[in-house]
Amino acid sequence: MLVTDIVRRDLFQGKTAFITGGGSGINFGIARNFAALGATIVICSRSQDRLDKAAEELRGFGGKVGAIAADVRDPAAIADALDRSAREFGPAHTVVSGAAGNFLCPAEKISANGFRTVVEIDLLGSFNVARAAFDQLKEAQGNIIFITGGLAALPYALQVHAGAAKAGIDNMMRNLALEWGRYGIRSNSISPGYIDETEGTSRLAPGPVLDAVLGSTPLGRLGTVDEIGQMAVFLASPLAAWITGTIMTVDGGHYLGGSSTLNAALDPLFRD
Ligand code: COA
Ligand code: NAP
Repeated sequence: MLVTDIVRRDLFQGKTAFITGGGSGINFGIARNFAALGATIVICSRSQDRLDKAAEELRGFGGKVGAIAADVRDPAAIADALDRSAREFGPAHTVVSGAAGNFLCPAEKISANGFRTVVEIDLLGSFNVARAAFDQLKEAQGNIIFITGGLAALPYALQVHAGAAKAGIDNMMRNLALEWGRYGIRSNSISPGYIDETEGTSRLAPGPVLDAVLGSTPLGRLGTVDEIGQMAVFLASPLAAWITGTIMTVDGGHYLGGSSTLNAALDPLFRD
């Protein structure tokens, strides 16, 4: 089979993608690329207003779009959201767990609640979504995609909370690949580099840090949300039928230089 036989505009026709955090940034870019290939989209995050605006834009691709508000930290609310999604739009073939919270903070200054909040959104939230989606993924013979980051593999200054959370996500992703392969479910992560026009980049790479990021990225530019969306589409497609338990790095080669250039730029910003 040639690639031109696979990537058609109706590739995901009749399939549903449930995307947490899908109302903004990278996850919206993912939603947009699935919508462009005919998928039914359900986006889920805390703000109904944000979701409704994003859903309206996604409907421009011509498919069905649902917008269901829920906090990924609340297992019952997430289970309800996934149930409602299945009732209205059919079982999810692709689940993207992309909801996250983050901020820069030195390890010795972050409060216990600050650390817990990020771990609860990113790691526990991802578990809540995966657990609640299991029956649907099994029925649809689908796949789950987690959004991780370079900070899961290397220490990034001022990111003790998010690094721990994302590392946990990647380990969980591999465990799910191991345990759920027998049910026909694939589990993978995407590790984006710094992505243009996103909340993450504006929060985590202020001023001189952005220069350091660009200087240490072999391809010399930020990524786009569509470039992450296209990796998600690949992972969900038959092109990736034999891929599970893997982290796909999409970062213009930023990881090759390690985190020391970034850390040298970041660290002084928050030290007294
Ligand atoms: N530095 C240090 N601690 C911080 C902080 C910062 N910039 N922002 C929040 N915290 C701490 C708070 O002080 C609080 O701890 P405390 O009770 O000990 O004071 C704890 O984190 C929870 O804060 P709260 O504002 O109640 O959390 P929330 O649940 O309303 O929001 C956040 C979660 C903090 C992650 C918020 O930034 C958010 O909603 N982010 C989503 C968008 C995002 O982060 N996008 C980028 C993804 S890469
Ligand atoms: P973003 O637009 O702020 O995306 C975060 C999303 O998560 C928002 O849509 C937010 O919507 C939702 N969310 C936050 N807390 C939630 C909760 N408790 N329950 C449900 N939804 C919640 O930021 P982004 O930069 O595009 O980041 C998207 C993902 O990419 C994250 O997983 C991030 O860690 C990862 N990432 C980003 C970069 C980057 O360069 N930007 C790099 C590497 C990895 P609501 O406010 O409506 O809840």
